[in-house]
Amino acid sequence: MKLPPFKLERYFARYEFKADYLLCSSDCESMTIGELLALSPGAMTRFQQHWLGYTESQGAPRLRDQISTIYDTITPDQVLVHSGAQEAIFLFMQAALKPGDHLIVHAPCYQSLAEVARAMGCQVTFWQGCPSQGWALDLAELRHAIQPATRAVVVNMPHNPTGYLMSAEQFGQLIQIVRDHQLILFSDEVYRESEYAAEDRLPAACDLDALAVSLGVLSKAYGLPGLRIGWIATRNAGIYNAMTALKDYTTICNSAPSEFLAEVALQYRAELAQRSRDIIKANLTALESFFAAHTERFAWQRPSAGPIAFPRLLRGDVDTFCHDLVTTAGVLLLPGSVYEDNGNHFRIGFGRRNLPDAITRLDEFLQQHAD
Ligand SMILES: Cc1ncc(COP(=O)(O)O)c(C=O)c1O
Repeated sequence: MKLPPFKLERYFARYEFKADYLLCSSDCESMTIGELLALSPGAMTRFQQHWLGYTESQGAPRLRDQISTIYDTITPDQVLVHSGAQEAIFLFMQAALKPGDHLIVHAPCYQSLAEVARAMGCQVTFWQGCPSQGWALDLAELRHAIQPATRAVVVNMPHNPTGYLMSAEQFGQLIQIVRDHQLILFSDEVYRESEYAAEDRLPAACDLDALAVSLGVLSKAYGLPGLRIGWIATRNAGIYNAMTALKDYTTICNSAPSEFLAEVALQYRAELAQRSRDIIKANLTALESFFAAHTERFAWQRPSAGPIAFPRLLRGDVDTFCHDLVTTAGVLLLPGSVYEDNGNHFRIGFGRRNLPDAITRLDEFLQQHAD
């Protein structure tokens, strides 16, 4: 299997630790280990006493207990903990697909959701969100895309990079379609709990369908990407067992300190998610004012959920714009080309506390480059 470079990660690698402002991060404001441990009385002492041996390959039992409480129908034995969501994506594709299989992927997409399957010799059909309708997915198009060789459908909601979220009714219809065709729904739910209104939150796919796999992580809505703790939750024993067997060839087990910290974090999951949503909502208000003042430069579309949006640059080439912005003003935006988007869109992220300062710097850049 030969994987091409991961465009988004390579772009970040060039600028992430050099730019003054990361105005395109998909994760929310993080915290220190001390701040996290301070949430839980006695946790600091327990952390220092935590054993640094290998951990259970499926994930520490207490951590899996905590993760299972996110779902309605999932037991701790139906949770498989990974090193980030990325490892889980890689292993799911290996477990569910073989060369020649067909996969349908919500697009534009986080590259690995399609690329791993392509590199394995699978056919991928992109199920494209419609930019003029808030990046909505059309269920009729999905029905049309299903072939005899189709094995799985991949969706990501709240969506990276557009912030799209379908209604619960549509999600129910999607579940019915995959069920009718005996397909596995791989539901990337890494931005779940970053919805602006609680009533918009979709049920987890693994709770609605026995074949479906839900993907979760501490990186995004909970603001703890440095822990590198992600998981899948599924009642699909075949996929679960196959992924467990494959994990012996990737990470074997997770980092023991990270598992400890993840367990603490999930005990305070509601507080962490609320903290992120408070930042997101305040920043979204600031962004809307900014884009309202720059309608000649950008076409802004308010996302439905999550810490990222995908506006369009109206004048000039977006790759050049992003390059000039980061090299002269130190503000990093992510050009849509890393998503194979050719609509001149760029990703903007608003989960960080310093967004108002980043916007001020962007505004100054626009004034200096008013052409
Ligand atoms: C949709 C989506 N899935 C998976 C991942 C991978 O998450 P992690 O970096 O925590 O492994 C990301 C990261 O940006 C993402 O946006």
